[in-house]
Amino acid sequence: MRLDRFVCKSTMLTRVQASSAIERGEVCVNGQTMTSERAQVHENNLVTLNGVALSCRPFRYLLLNKTAGTICSNIDEVYPSLFNNIDIEHRDELHIAGRLDADTTGLVLITDDGRWSFNIITPSKQCRKVYRVGLSKAIDLDAADKFKQGIQLQGEEKLTKPALLEMITPKDVRLTITEGKFHQVKRMFASIGNKVVTLHRERIGDIQLDVMPGEWRYLTQLEIESFSDKDL
Ligand code: URA
Repeated sequence: MRLDRFVCKSTMLTRVQASSAIERGEVCVNGQTMTSERAQVHENNLVTLNGVALSCRPFRYLLLNKTAGTICSNIDEVYPSLFNNIDIEHRDELHIAGRLDADTTGLVLITDDGRWSFNIITPSKQCRKVYRVGLSKAIDLDAADKFKQGIQLQGEEKLTKPALLEMITPKDVRLTITEGKFHQVKRMFASIGNKVVTLHRERIGDIQLDVMPGEWRYLTQLEIESFSDKDL
């Protein structure tokens, strides 16, 4: 990771304070003064600040049940940030792996480990996301076949990847997709002449939502490892 990030993750310094300390020559990597905040360091490098060895805080991995009317952003905008529900230290170091719209509820994964979240959001990994979808009218009988073949979304060059549509009742369905295009679920149903009225993410990969709305918990080791560098 970048040296300034390493210094932040191992001290109480902000990014700006860490950069200033690096510029002033207070930080050494393996005994050598390093004045570039962009220098890359590994966890097994010996990094010191004013001669004191630093050790990085371990990465954190959380799941949250997002409520409607909150946004997947680190700061409040038109709606409040979902981070208001997470009362832990160094909240600003965390980011969201796969955003939901303001009116969408359900499973959100949050971490400060960029390599881990890359495995969730990068299209090539085809990570499965499962949504429960409430519709404005009964689903067409051929919808499952269309979603399996792939749908042409407006403004996209390629068809959507095969998706699994399961009917619970005619207006209440479950959809599994392996992509995360902008407003993908809403656009998929719009393209077959229907409208999403409620949208709730139940699952990402092997991780199932199991906390109440607005609540969060840390992931288990097994859940974290399910997104390590392997097929998902
Ligand atoms: N697809 C959408 O349209 N919205 C979301 O929030 C997530 C997936």
